[in-house]
Amino acid sequence: LVRIIDQRLLPGEFLERDLRTLDDMVDAIRTLAVRGAPAIGVAAAMGLASLAAGLSRSGTGDFRERVEACGRALRGARPTAVNLAWAVDRVLAAGADQEDPIAVAHAMRREADAIREEDRDMCRRIGEFGASLLRDGMTVLTHCNTGALATAGIGTALGAIYVAHERGLRIRVLASETRPLLQGSRLTAWELCHAGIEVSVVADGAVASMMQSGSVDCCIVGADRITRRGDVANKIGTLSHAVVAGAYGVPFYVAAPTSTVDAETVSGLDVVIEERSPGEILLIAGHTGEQQGIMANNPAFDITPAELVSAIITDSGIYKAPYDLGAWKAAERSTDPSTPDL
Ligand code: MRU
Repeated sequence: LVRIIDQRLLPGEFLERDLRTLDDMVDAIRTLAVRGAPAIGVAAAMGLASLAAGLSRSGTGDFRERVEACGRALRGARPTAVNLAWAVDRVLAAGADQEDPIAVAHAMRREADAIREEDRDMCRRIGEFGASLLRDGMTVLTHCNTGALATAGIGTALGAIYVAHERGLRIRVLASETRPLLQGSRLTAWELCHAGIEVSVVADGAVASMMQSGSVDCCIVGADRITRRGDVANKIGTLSHAVVAGAYGVPFYVAAPTSTVDAETVSGLDVVIEERSPGEILLIAGHTGEQQGIMANNPAFDITPAELVSAIITDSGIYKAPYDLGAWKAAERSTDPSTPDL
């Protein structure tokens, strides 16, 4: 059993939902009941460990095949955030050298717990590094939701804002709405408001003129996958914010944990971008366009090239271009909190 906050219902209703079956887990990830790159990795890891525990007790001969099939289904639930495949593979690998199903399930559970705890620690470190870039009185633009809802800890981009707030800095956050599923206005605004941090929601289309008028001191966003050269896959709309930030000289930071770096992929052009249902675009506007033959394109993510990223804030320090994130990933478990000089 895995318990999640059903993010589809926020901010209207706070409901915790128990996921018991593989279908429940895949559906929760696909429909964004649980969402955010680190959170879907943690949820899939916990889900897979719990399914393996159930299968180990049922005593069927094909235990390993069935666990691997669960892993494949979870891995395939969403394509863009690398954390999902990474977490599933880690949990599967943890049980690989055991024979007894009960021992395999225990090893998988320990690994899933480790992934969750590491994510919590990485969020805190990202928050501390990120807060060092913020000053009292700043207005910070963020996109989508990268906070406690999206991770096992305090969040990534929002983690920096939470730590700055803890340190007594007055930070004002602009949360862009994040069409079509409104993670900015529904989730980020809700989280920050509960934390007592000043937040204003802005339409995605209002961001350019706010940067033009000098109303934004810096941008901090999260990531679903960062390639070796520093290209960033993140929620659709991130690229347009980055382009505008570049045009008006506003620093554009990306905050993400090691688990979001895909050292196997060099360029953002090779990242699979999830295409979601046209209904998310059309129905949210309250019309039945699909029935009238109106179509919609609904890419869920875009790629911001490394050239538009001022710095990448990670759990092991703050990196500036030219990025060689393969080297960072290789050094992944060295936990020296000083900023490495890559
Ligand atoms: O489709 P979503 O809501 O899962 O997309 C989430 C994002 O794009 C976040 O910015 C990213 O996963 C980082 S969350 C710490």
